[in-house]
Amino acid sequence: MITRKKIIAGNWKMNKTSADGVALVRDIVAAVGKQADVEVVVCPPFTGLEAAGKALEGSNVRLGAQNMHHEAAGAFTGEVSAPMLRAIFTTHVILGHSERRLYFGETDETVNRKLLAALKNQLRPIFCVGETLAERESGATLKVVQTQVERGLEGVGKDHAPSVTVAYEPVWALGTGKVATTEQAQEVHAFIRGLLVKLFGEPAAQKVRILYGGSMKPSNAPELLAQKDIDGGLIGGAALEARSFVELVNAAAAAR
Ligand code: PGA
Repeated sequence: MITRKKIIAGNWKMNKTSADGVALVRDIVAAVGKQADVEVVVCPPFTGLEAAGKALEGSNVRLGAQNMHHEAAGAFTGEVSAPMLRAIFTTHVILGHSERRLYFGETDETVNRKLLAALKNQLRPIFCVGETLAERESGATLKVVQTQVERGLEGVGKDHAPSVTVAYEPVWALGTGKVATTEQAQEVHAFIRGLLVKLFGEPAAQKVRILYGGSMKPSNAPELLAQKDIDGGLIGGAALEARSFVELVNAAAAAR
């Protein structure tokens, strides 16, 4: 049986100045900087990336961005490209977060372009999918997730598939304190795993990490992380303080 290394990724969203981010990273590094059993990723806003990257140098903590443009360079005011992220030692990038889809007009097609560009530049995408409350209540969850997964991953070869991490984030659970039940989460995670098997074949699909995101915190993490297809978490609110983030990393290490 394949064992997948769990990932705990902190999505700071539009929080923390560069200096505040450095302070947070220092605390995280002091507590879990040598953790080798869990892939720990922090995703500050663009302005904090470089300083955070320096603060985590020499540790096992990895650096992720929250978005990027699919082109490498050009007349795209306000945007940042994959080579720019790579140049400051970014290793991961969150793509297609529901807030990007909802507030910034991202579609399955734009997310797909970004994902292919990230892979081309050796960045590891944390590719977000998930249904809204209305979609869940109308019974459309699996259909919505299927469309997002299939369109978002179009053109990805099976050799590249294991570099992709999928994050299942039910929109109704983001920042709301409403967490999906473990059964609700595992059901969708297993469904996503099945889609990945169809797209990439069993061996590659078994290597893909599928994270849960949506009000994950130390109190609910152990049960979620114990599920067969839940390979870690994409954490918003609880990633903004070292103590809760570190507890989540420890919970993932214990759930191995
Ligand atoms: P949350 O956010 O943990 O605050 O619900 C997760 C996310 O939006 O990635």
